[in-house]
Amino acid sequence: MNKEEAKAKILELSKIIENHNYNYYILARPSISDFDFDMLLNELIELEKQFPDLILPDSPTQRVGGDLTKEFKTVKHRYPMLSLSNSYNIEEVKDFISRIKKIIEEDVEFVCELKFDGVSISLTYENGLFVKAVTRGDGTQGDDVTTNIKTIHSIPLRLKGNYPDFFEMRGEVIMPHKSFNNINAEREDLGLQPFANPRNAAAGTIKLQDSKEVAKRKLDAFCYFMMMDDDKMIFNTHYESLAAAKQWGFNVSNFMAICNDVDDIEEFINYWDEKRKELPFDIDGIVIKVNNFKQREILGFTSKSPRWAIAYKFKAEEAHTKLLSVDFQVGRHGTITPVANLEPVQLAGTIVKRATLHNADFIEQLDLHYDDIVSVEKGGEIIPKITSVDLKSRKDNSSKVHFIEHCPECGTKLIKAEGETAWYCPNTLGCPPQIKGRIEHFISRKAMNIESLGEGKVEVLFDNDLIKDYSDLYNLTYDNLFGLEKIIVVDDENQENTIRKVSFKEKTANNIIDAIEKSKSVPFARVLFALGIKYVGETTAKLIAKAMGSIDNIINASLEELTDIEEVGEKIALSIKEFFADERNINIINKLRESGLQFEQEEKEVNENQVLSGMSIVVSGVFNTMSRDEIKQLIEDLGGKNVSSISKKTSFVVAGDKMGPEKRKKAESLGIEIKSEEDFLKMIRNTTSETTTSSGTQGVLEFEF
Ligand code: IVH
Repeated sequence: MNKEEAKAKILELSKIIENHNYNYYILARPSISDFDFDMLLNELIELEKQFPDLILPDSPTQRVGGDLTKEFKTVKHRYPMLSLSNSYNIEEVKDFISRIKKIIEEDVEFVCELKFDGVSISLTYENGLFVKAVTRGDGTQGDDVTTNIKTIHSIPLRLKGNYPDFFEMRGEVIMPHKSFNNINAEREDLGLQPFANPRNAAAGTIKLQDSKEVAKRKLDAFCYFMMMDDDKMIFNTHYESLAAAKQWGFNVSNFMAICNDVDDIEEFINYWDEKRKELPFDIDGIVIKVNNFKQREILGFTSKSPRWAIAYKFKAEEAHTKLLSVDFQVGRHGTITPVANLEPVQLAGTIVKRATLHNADFIEQLDLHYDDIVSVEKGGEIIPKITSVDLKSRKDNSSKVHFIEHCPECGTKLIKAEGETAWYCPNTLGCPPQIKGRIEHFISRKAMNIESLGEGKVEVLFDNDLIKDYSDLYNLTYDNLFGLEKIIVVDDENQENTIRKVSFKEKTANNIIDAIEKSKSVPFARVLFALGIKYVGETTAKLIAKAMGSIDNIINASLEELTDIEEVGEKIALSIKEFFADERNINIINKLRESGLQFEQEEKEVNENQVLSGMSIVVSGVFNTMSRDEIKQLIEDLGGKNVSSISKKTSFVVAGDKMGPEKRKKAESLGIEIKSEEDFLKMIRNTTSETTTSSGTQGVLEFEF
C-alpha cells in the first residue's frame, strides 16, 4: 500500500472504529461484535506501525494506552474549577431557592442532575479535537492527565456536528462497580491492598504512569458543565448546552430533569435516593443548578462556589448492629484478613451478616470490642464495612478484639513486612488455605484453564490427599477422581450459607483429565502467571516471559536483570527472587517440567535481520519520527533487548529530545555511546540493507522514515 492509500485507509478505519465506539459507550447500542471490532483496530494498529507519521491526533488506537507519563505537568486552569456548597436536607434546599428568588424576580427554572461520585476533570476541545485533560487540583491549577484520559472510551477524541472552536467540558471520571469489583478481586489475589471505594480507585487510576494499565481498568466519565468565554456562549440555558454536548458526542446523563419548584426537586431527590442502589456506579447526591445563564450571571459566585448551584448529599447507607465474633481468613499469599460476624441486619436491600475489618490497624483505630454496636456502611463494594463504634452502648465488661498472633489454620507465628499493614502467615507451602488458594489460582481460566476443577473440587482432592501442590494435578488418573464426593458449604452473594454437593461423576472426571492434559500446551507466560508468585499478575508475567525467554533464565536472573524488565520494580523482583530461592518451589517446577508444561517462550516469527541481537539498549526521551514504543518494538523485532536503566552492560542509548540529565550523566560516566534518533535509524537502515543483500532476502524490512 502506498502512502496516499494508507492515509485514506487510516482515516476511514479511524472513523468507523470511533463510530462503533460511540454506539457502544455513549448510546449503549453495540453495532459490531467484539471480534470484528478488534479486527478493525488491529488493522489500524498495523497500518500506524507502518506509517507512524500518518497517525491521527484522535486515533482510536490511543484508547488502548501505551504511553508513559513520568511526571504529570502542572497546568493552570483557564477557568477556575470551583466546588459546590452542600446541603443535607430539604430545608437547606428551600433556603437555597429562597435566596435565589430574592435576587431574581422572574421565574427560575432548575436542572436536577445526579452527583457522580468520582474525580472531577476539565477537558479542553480545540476545533473539535480533544487536546487536554486536567484534574481539579487546588481549583486554580491541576495535573495534566491527557494521555490517561484518552483511554476512557466515553470521552470523545473528535467531536461531531456544529461545535464552537474552543471550549472546556467539565465532568466526572468514575469507576463503575463492575470495574471496581474486578480490580479489587485481582488486587487481593495478588496480595495487594484493595481500594476502599470506587472514588479512590478512580483517583488512583488517573494518576497511574502507565496508560495501558489505565485502559485496562475501564473507567467511565459523565459530562455536566460546559465552559467558554462569556461573549462566546451560544446557548441560553444549561439544559440546551448539555443537549448540544450530547449531539457532539459527549456522555451526558439521561437522568436529569427541569424542575420548577421545590416539590419537583424533592421528588427527584427522593426518587434517586432509592433508585441509586440500582445504578452501576456510585452517586453521592443530587446537584441542583439554575438553568438560565443570564440568571446565573446575576447570581454570581462566592469565593468558593457558584450561588446558582447546590449539592444535596445523600446520607450514606448505614445500619447499626452487634459485633458477634471476628474470623481471621487466610488468603493464598498468606495475608490475614479480619472479618466481622454481625447480627444480621437489613442494609441497602440485602441482609448483612459479615463486614470487612481490613487489617490490624483498622481494628485498633476503632478500638473494637466484642458485643459492640457498630455502624455498617455499604458503598459500591460487595462486602460492607464497619465505619464506627457506638461507645455509649458498650458494656463495662466487654473484651477488646485482639488481632491474632498465630495462623488460625496452621498455627505458625504471623509476621509483618516492613512498611506494610497486613500480617501474614509465612508457612507458604504448608498452610492448607494457602496451598488450596494457590492450586485454585493455578487452574483458573487466565492461568492453566482447568476450570472443570473449580467450585470446590480442589478442596475435595486436597482433603483426600490426592494433591499436595499443583504439580500433583498431572499425576491424577480417572480412577483417582471417579466417585469422589463431598458436601460443602459456600457463601453466596447475599452472604447466605448454601449447602452444595460436589461429586465427580464419569463426565466430570473425564473433563478434568482432558483439561489437565490440554493445559500442557498453555504458553509459558500463562504458566508463569499460574505459579502464583506474589505481585506477578497476568500482564507482568507476560512481560517477564517475553524479556527472559525461559524459566531457567528467570531462576538465574539477578535482581538488576529483573528490575530492567518493563513494569518490574524492586518489590516484584524481590518477590520473584524469594519464590525461586525456595528449594521446594524448584522441586515443584521440576515436576511440572517432567509433566511436559511449557517453560520456554515460544519462538515467534523472527525477523531475519537480527542486527541488534545480544544488545541491551536504553531508549530515553521524546522522538520525532516514531513514538518511544515504536522504537522499542523495532529494537525487539531486530533481536535487541530493551532495558530501562543504564549499566555497564548497556550497548548504547537511543536518545530523543528531553533525555533526562541524570541518565545522560550516567551514560557518559560509563562511556556508553549515546545515539541520536537519526543516527539510530540510519544505523539500522545501513545494517539491515547490508544483511539483506548478503543473505539474499529482499523486502524483509520496509521502513518509512
Ligand atoms: S457541577 C461550579 N454537576 O461535585 C461547579 N458537579 O463539589 C460545577 N460533581 O467538583 C460542578 N456530579 O466534581 C456538577 N452533575 C454534577 C456533578 C458534579 C458530581 C462533582 C464535581 C464537583 C463536586 C462539587
